[in-house]
Amino acid sequence: MKSSERYGGRLTINLDAVGANYRLLKARGAPAECAAAVKADAYGLGMARVAPALWNAGCRTFFIATLDEGLALRALLPDAGIYMLNGLPPDEETTLLEYRLSPVLNTLGQIEAWAAFARSAESTLPPAAIHIDTGMNRLGLPADEVDALFDRPDLLENCPFDLVMSHLACAEDRSNPMNHGQCEKFEALTKRFPGKHASLSNSAGVFLGAPFHHDLTRVGISVYGGAPILNEPNPMAEVVHLQGRIVQTRFVDSPMTVGYGATHSFKKRTRLATVALGYGDGYIRSAGNQAYGCIGGVRVPVVGRVSMDLITLDVTAADPALSEPGNFVDLIGHGADMDDIARRAGTISYELLTNLGSRYERIYIGDGSLAGETRP
Ligand SMILES: Cc1ncc(COP(=O)(O)O)c(C=O)c1O
Repeated sequence: MKSSERYGGRLTINLDAVGANYRLLKARGAPAECAAAVKADAYGLGMARVAPALWNAGCRTFFIATLDEGLALRALLPDAGIYMLNGLPPDEETTLLEYRLSPVLNTLGQIEAWAAFARSAESTLPPAAIHIDTGMNRLGLPADEVDALFDRPDLLENCPFDLVMSHLACAEDRSNPMNHGQCEKFEALTKRFPGKHASLSNSAGVFLGAPFHHDLTRVGISVYGGAPILNEPNPMAEVVHLQGRIVQTRFVDSPMTVGYGATHSFKKRTRLATVALGYGDGYIRSAGNQAYGCIGGVRVPVVGRVSMDLITLDVTAADPALSEPGNFVDLIGHGADMDDIARRAGTISYELLTNLGSRYERIYIGDGSLAGETRP
């Protein structure tokens, strides 16, 4: 048995496309520095391979969510700037100092703790970021707490930080008035922090234009091929190719049904293919009766519910020679657009990617240092 036949699915991740996407995002946001979000195992694609590829593409600053992710990233990239989005974990100041991890300080309490640690520490701390809230109401200091911070000049003096950041709530919707509202609030607040770098934009924000770029952009989903802006052509190169192996085919006819719950009934003679991956592989269950795959570029709908290890597709329209058992169906990429599949499954590409489990045969192409292809 060939080793690839041990797996129901094959996940190919093109690191040269990751590199090309990073360079495109950096160019679109220039002269701002471009940092990459590699949290959640680089959006499910494998931080151990993706982060070094981004480094090869020129990325020097990274954002992760948790301390655990920060420690893993530090082992991969000894010289990178690493910011931890989820804040300063209690009693972990010395770990952050040892591994030079920069906390994103989300509350006055965290600012106090970092300043107190700076006073007592014998060496220079990695500079933190102060997160101010401009409308997301999730993390960061709201305007009144920024005022409270300025009532405590001792805190500001003693807290080593080099970045003031905020996060856009609706950036993927170009026409949403909240974008400019947040940008104006951010600019008013950052004026109070002269000499500090400012960062507001995620991937989508990069495409909202120069007023959103400031000193540092923080890009995630579009590095991985996701469309930055809703309902606009996707300029990013395709990174992810998910293929499922056909393990059985059969002809079915009216009045038969397929799968658990008998949720799809056949109206005519149909060629059905069973593919060896399911929600146990992260192919989300809500894709049942909604998503599609591609065989030789021909769309083949997912019919019936997604099972734990299997899905079924109507392959009547596909070339029979390409849809025999042993062949692959393209489930993300190569015609099965990641954002379209996510939308049909009632979710977003972020969730589609971070769900991809460890059950696939994983293949990495390139190392991020070559120019990948971008869509026209
Ligand atoms: C604070 C922050 N900045 C940047 C990003 C990257 O965003 P995106 O993947 O939309 O580019 C995220 C992702 O969730 C985030 O939470």
